Amino acid sequence: MNRLTWGMIGGGEGSQIGPAHRLGAMADGNFALTAGALDVDAAKGKAYAERLGVASDRAYGNWQEMLEGEKGRTDKLDLVTVATPNNTHFEITKAFLEAGFHVLCEKPMTMTVEEGEEIVRIAAETGKICAVNYCYSAYPMVREMREMVRRGDLGKIRTVVTNFSHGHHATGDDAENPRVRWRYDPAMAGVSGQMADCGIHALHLASFITGDEVRTLSADFASTVSARVLEDDAMVNFRMEGGTVGRLWSSTIAIGRMHGLDIQVFGELGGMRWASEQPNQIHYTRLNGRTEIIEKGEAGLSDEAGRLSRVAIAHPEGFPLAVANIYVDLAARIRGQAAGDLPLAVDGLRSMAAVYAAVDSAEQNGAWVDARPPSMRD
Ligand code: NAI
Repeated sequence: MNRLTWGMIGGGEGSQIGPAHRLGAMADGNFALTAGALDVDAAKGKAYAERLGVASDRAYGNWQEMLEGEKGRTDKLDLVTVATPNNTHFEITKAFLEAGFHVLCEKPMTMTVEEGEEIVRIAAETGKICAVNYCYSAYPMVREMREMVRRGDLGKIRTVVTNFSHGHHATGDDAENPRVRWRYDPAMAGVSGQMADCGIHALHLASFITGDEVRTLSADFASTVSARVLEDDAMVNFRMEGGTVGRLWSSTIAIGRMHGLDIQVFGELGGMRWASEQPNQIHYTRLNGRTEIIEKGEAGLSDEAGRLSRVAIAHPEGFPLAVANIYVDLAARIRGQAAGDLPLAVDGLRSMAAVYAAVDSAEQNGAWVDARPPSMRD
């Protein structure tokens, strides 16, 4: 089968997320990197694209040039990934969707709820795929957890406890590092720091695994490093539509924690835990039973967990392959084949509504507020 053509905006040399997209898109031979505007520095971006094998006439200095150069081509790109800092996601995603491209956008999809509503509308009107890179939902054992909830292994779900905390921004020493600076600058990050950067991954997982959506929330935000405007530590209590109670902690000042995303789900008949640093295992305990470790690759797992694993039991299968799973389902959808669930613009919109609700609640000393996008309220 021919490879699909793929363009990338952002994710330049030295960026955090760029390599995961390149490894992910190319892991299964579905996509070939064909065009790019990879860096805020035009010359650097072009040179890097060419080193990655992009033809010089498709290595662009910025995304506007890329849009102009690509939109009229007969061999139009099959997919464009947006992996720039947050403040550019909306305009780039909107422009490429409107020009007839499928888009995979990094999270957070937009800077405001209104922009989120607009992207959902444009994706529906154009019929183009707009996926959002909630890649943790594509880990095989996260899919297994969702299946366990669906099957009723845990009974009715009572609580979800999740956190995404690291200690990499525990001081202000690297405030001028270009990879850190934008994350606390409201003009580039938006109304929230850590909640919008990492907390929304945890919140998305809570919804994805339980099959339920956040309805209301109460938040407490702290900005603990002086001169930081946006929060670097957030605690959010939430209630889901089906009555599940949620607890979420997200922090950048948790010294000693490296990439502390984990999620625990507790139902009437059992509980389970998954952590991104040990992604091959689910710790599962039945009511009155001993704790079992369910291992990726063992017999009897769900079809989804099997479909999305590549390497044999006990071999580490990590972040780039979770991103690859997003690209596998994107490729299938683009080719009109059967595909698994993809995180879509509607998920990006829900996240933005929850971020704004958390900011609003934190400003009101933790008042409970509606966390749903206006278009999804009763
Ligand atoms: P970064 O600061 O490490 O890299 C940003 C890259 O984008 C750089 O190469 C920069 O030169 C380039 N860039 C900036 N403005 C640009 C523009 N206008 N046009 C073209 N290129 C431009 O940032 P990082 O950490 O890679 O984050 C990028 C995005 O990915 C953010 O929205 C972030 O929230 C998201 N992200 C998602 C993750 C996930 O797990 N899904 C993990 C890390 C980041």
